[in-house]
Amino acid sequence: MAAIRRVALVGSGALGVACLEGLIKAGFKVTALTRSRTKFEKYSKDVEIKELEYLDPSSLAELKRTFEYQDAVVSVVAPAAIMAQQPLIEAAAEAGIKHIIPSTFASMGGDSAARHLPGYDQIHELQDWLIARSSRTQDTNRMTWTTVNNGAFMDLVLNYPFLADFPNHRATLWDSGDNKLSCTTYPTIARAVVGILRNYTSAACKNRWVNVHDIALSQNMVLDMAKKADPSSHWDVDAHLDTAKVLDQSLATYRAQRGSGNTVWAHGDTLVHTLLTSAVMSGRYKTNYEGDLQNEELGVPEFTLEDLYGLVTMRTRGEMV
Ligand SMILES: NC(=O)c1ccc[n+]([C@@H]2O[C@H](COP(=O)([O-])OP(=O)(O)OC[C@H]3O[C@@H](n4cnc5c(N)ncnc54)[C@H](OP(=O)(O)O)[C@@H]3O)[C@@H](O)[C@H]2O)c1
Repeated sequence: MAAIRRVALVGSGALGVACLEGLIKAGFKVTALTRSRTKFEKYSKDVEIKELEYLDPSSLAELKRTFEYQDAVVSVVAPAAIMAQQPLIEAAAEAGIKHIIPSTFASMGGDSAARHLPGYDQIHELQDWLIARSSRTQDTNRMTWTTVNNGAFMDLVLNYPFLADFPNHRATLWDSGDNKLSCTTYPTIARAVVGILRNYTSAACKNRWVNVHDIALSQNMVLDMAKKADPSSHWDVDAHLDTAKVLDQSLATYRAQRGSGNTVWAHGDTLVHTLLTSAVMSGRYKTNYEGDLQNEELGVPEFTLEDLYGLVTMRTRGEMV
């Protein structure tokens, strides 16, 4: 296996910055592609930063020239740009890239039953396209790929009133509160990316998705830890939400308002937020990866309960994780 040394990282969101830090720390030579260098600027001593409208067809020739000097591409672009990655992926293959990690980083990317949910139509469409593409091109084109299922972003789950409203000590239980959801911090996702690049030819990584998480947590686990960390606090825990009912209702409203075409997953979209939260908490889809994880193959240790307790304790002190 030819080792990957030079990596092009595409996109500078919070996950992009975490991946950049993880790749630098792991010793890769990184070229960071961004439409605006602001968020990468402070890393300019360690990485080459290239400003480029990388999803614009007019940039394809320059994108390909940039990729010719790289071994791998890691794309961390926004949910709105999932399908727009196709030309970028083709440019990487034509430039002789060995391995690509396209942007998906999803919770339900390993469950095709979730493909009717907003955002997941595109994630599954992209994965289907990658699978078809790699079987079609395997003789002439050696580029391989991995997509990452990392469960929910831990910061979204703990910093926002998703399972528990820490500042106001309030929670509304999704069903019994015991359904488990795989969750992962940004640094762990970055470690998984590094693990994939170091093992890209292995059966665990080649032309497939991987499941990684820090831990599968339930609402009750988080609430119990919050009460233990701050015994003087009083939590108002409201009656159970019928998760399946909330999911079906929000899906029906979504379809009535927005049709069934391709979906855009925008931040601050409360309907999509309710829909996706009820979907991941419903137990209807594969959102708990326990028993089907590639952490070990990628060299990514799981959290202990003490690790999770540490994060919950931070939230009870008003700190963000
Ligand atoms: N599992 C979860 O809980 C979860 C939650 C949210 C997102 N995700 C996944 O994480 C990945 C990154 O998502 P994110 O929410 O971190 O993305 P984001 O912050 O919204 O965007 C990441 C970067 O994408 C680039 N970009 C390219 N085209 C864009 C467009 N049309 N609109 C906005 N940004 C665009 C921008 O980088 P430049 O300006 O540098 O070009 C931007 O900083 C995606 O694969 C997404 O599916 C997972």
